[in-house]
Amino acid sequence: MAHTKKQSVVVARQDLDRPIGVERYLAPVVRDLVALGVNGKQAHWHVRGANFIGLHEFLDDLVAHAQDGADQVAERIVALGLPVDARVGTVAAQATLPEPKAGFQQSDPTLNDVIAQVDATLVTVYAAIEGLAEIDAPSQDIVIALAEQLDKDRWFLRSQLAS
Ligand SMILES: [Fe+2]
Repeated sequence: MAHTKKQSVVVARQDLDRPIGVERYLAPVVRDLVALGVNGKQAHWHVRGANFIGLHEFLDDLVAHAQDGADQVAERIVALGLPVDARVGTVAAQATLPEPKAGFQQSDPTLNDVIAQVDATLVTVYAAIEGLAEIDAPSQDIVIALAEQLDKDRWFLRSQLAS
């Protein structure tokens, strides 16, 4: 009887730890993706010069990937019963993305700015993949798919650089 009681305590502890571990690794991913969506739009509006139409349109694809990813990752945290803080102030204070240049900018400097944004996001995403390996496989699956998409987006951006 005492043995059964002890087992139920262990299970309850695991159930408590899993959402906390998931939130620890996924919340920074949500905040970086929100920032990537905002800064991606900034680049979409201000890019000028070579291949303007192609870049302008692709940057909207990148924004859509960032926003869809943020939604999916945030909802994984909420599905496990915890809130996620992706308010504007929290994103501004805690997102890891470098600040892009303000105002109009030619294609190549814009591409380099956006690639730096994607690279910072990928560092956070790969940290989540590693950290979640021992915590929660479904959450790890989500960030693995996200890494695949962002790596592909990075390739599309890199391939448009003139030099
Ligand atoms: Fe637009």
